[in-house]
Amino acid sequence: LWTPDNIIEDTVASVREQVGGDEVLLGLSGGVDSSVVAALLHRAIGDQLTCVFVDNGLLRHQEGDQVMATFAEHMGVKVIRVDAEDLFLGKLAGVSDPERKRKIIGNTFIEVFEAESEKLANVKWLAQGTIYPDVIESAGSKTGKAKVIKSHHNVGGLPEHMKLGLVEPLRELFKDEVRKIGVELGLPYDMVYRHPFPGPGLGVRILGEVEKAYADTLRLADHIFIEELRRHDLYDKVSQAFCVFLPVKSVGVTGDGRRYDYVVAMRAVETIDFMTARWAHLPYEFLDHVSRRIVNEVPRISRVVYDVTGKPPGTIEWE
Ligand code: XMP
Repeated sequence: LWTPDNIIEDTVASVREQVGGDEVLLGLSGGVDSSVVAALLHRAIGDQLTCVFVDNGLLRHQEGDQVMATFAEHMGVKVIRVDAEDLFLGKLAGVSDPERKRKIIGNTFIEVFEAESEKLANVKWLAQGTIYPDVIESAGSKTGKAKVIKSHHNVGGLPEHMKLGLVEPLRELFKDEVRKIGVELGLPYDMVYRHPFPGPGLGVRILGEVEKAYADTLRLADHIFIEELRRHDLYDKVSQAFCVFLPVKSVGVTGDGRRYDYVVAMRAVETIDFMTARWAHLPYEFLDHVSRRIVNEVPRISRVVYDVTGKPPGTIEWE
């Protein structure tokens, strides 16, 4: 019988059998899959698990602190937080091509993660949040075209020379099963049912060159949009929602006169499989409210637009 309880029990048993008394390393991203793996492995092997959480400076508003609060403070999981914002932003300086940005972010992640893992001398296993659809997708990508469109860096794993055995406890599960297990393991509902967030993070939501000031601005705008979606009970009605930073300036007026500042686009879609999507027909009143809040509260934003492009012809992300 499939119940979250049974799955947890089976998986805990098989992980214990697989790794014995060895130390296990996990790259924790804050996304659903790696979060559930962290909770599951913590239950199975407690302190034999060490998580490495890389803050690349391209995460959402307060995301790093939330990850630490949930896992380290609340659950007692061993988490090493690596503050690598300067490194990532340094490597991204002057780069505007989306695929190059993705490659740089992916490679830098591996570099940072490897450097951290070398400090943990006794690690024998690498845990990954691979789920069943990832297994299918990466198998298909050798012949199919899906992967060519955008190089997703969160599947595929680490360089050969790391020589760690793989622990992939979610390999046979679908996303909804992973979520149910997550809730059962005591992870916060909001974390487990969060919209997907791309591996390269805000790196592909700041069009063109990435700058820290742009990322800070985008984080604030995005946070307002998401907060209002939750407040208006719309968050769970859309599949994915976020803001995009457009590094173009537009003229606006305020009480004190003219301003010349940047543009933010709001994007919200409804989709089952993320291969095709419909732009979410959010109420005008709601869009009006969010737009006013963003322009009033976020410095350097003078204009807000709403993306009314489906997929196809658009992609969900702007890069
Ligand atoms: P697109 O923009 O291709 O997005 O319509 C489809 C889904 O994939 C996510 N996405 C990514 N996820 N690394 C990821 O981990 C990436 O480089 C990447 N690009 C897009 C996107 O957020 C959406 O859910």
